[in-house]
Amino acid sequence: MTISDIARRLVHPGKGIMAADRPAPAFNELLAAGGSTVDEHSYRNWSQLLFSAPGLNEYVSGIIMTDEQVRMRDSQGDPLLEQVLAEGIIPGISPFRGLVKLAGSADETVGSGLDGLRERLAEYAEMGVGFTKWRAAFQIGTGTPSDYAIAANAYVMAQVAALSQEAGIVPIVEPEVMLWGDHTIETCFAITERVLARTFEALYLHRVELEGTLVKASMVLSGDECPVQADVDTVAEQTVKVFRRQIPAAIPGIVFLSGGQSDWHATAHLNAMNAQYDLPWALSFSYARALQRVPMALWSNRAENVPAAQAALHHRAKMNGLAAVGLWTDALENAAA
Ligand code: 13P
Repeated sequence: MTISDIARRLVHPGKGIMAADRPAPAFNELLAAGGSTVDEHSYRNWSQLLFSAPGLNEYVSGIIMTDEQVRMRDSQGDPLLEQVLAEGIIPGISPFRGLVKLAGSADETVGSGLDGLRERLAEYAEMGVGFTKWRAAFQIGTGTPSDYAIAANAYVMAQVAALSQEAGIVPIVEPEVMLWGDHTIETCFAITERVLARTFEALYLHRVELEGTLVKASMVLSGDECPVQADVDTVAEQTVKVFRRQIPAAIPGIVFLSGGQSDWHATAHLNAMNAQYDLPWALSFSYARALQRVPMALWSNRAENVPAAQAALHHRAKMNGLAAVGLWTDALENAAA
């Protein structure tokens, strides 16, 4: 399969991506914060629950995993990666080793993990991994994001994209403009536009093949502490507007991160864009929290809760799969409740 075939399969109509790449320490912290007991098998059990959820492949085309997860074996000793591949789901990797302080900036960040990446990507490709995901995080504040941070992150994302394609792997480039703050939706629009423009300039410079690239984007939203919250139709309109300006039609698809939005908002916003606009790219999801929040609370690290948690995951995947083709309605949520 060529990289553009893989990219198109990832955004097959009605399907999206599940982001499961929270590393073990962050996962255990979240589990403990939810009041559950953490044991040596928690991370494996959770990964197994997610990857083996019955019927997940109806709505999920790909799963973003950590290095630990692509090498993980289930409780029977079987490799999880093989099971994901057998379900026809494309495994992806986050080769990223966390955000570090960008030298010379006032607390802005850049992704780390470029060292040895070419060799690591060759190994992942050998294992059957089809795509990478690399994140840049931009906090809106006084004077931030700076042009420096935007340019530095754009270069790193573009280098990772070029290296991924060299290995025959589709890069998912994730420039996230974060939700946190009291900024207006107009400010979010302006920052998102600047970030996307610089990101595509860097991709061009790095000779990245856009037909074999996906973008993982944040939506254009009011800051979570902004007193005026834009409604669903406005978010859809502004998000589509900025993408039309800055994302070339050669990109097969844009998959959203949920970024701290409620499950309902993440689904409703995606649905509104697909239902109301005729777009040159597929618009789908690549959610972590908006898919896993409810399942995780239901599971609370107890084996007897696995079927209920998997059913809840299937339900959220289905709602977002419908939103990816503009066919979700609130009534479908209520019908299931
Ligand atoms: P959220 O959907 O929770 O924002 O996570 C997406 C993500 O980037 C994880 O890979």
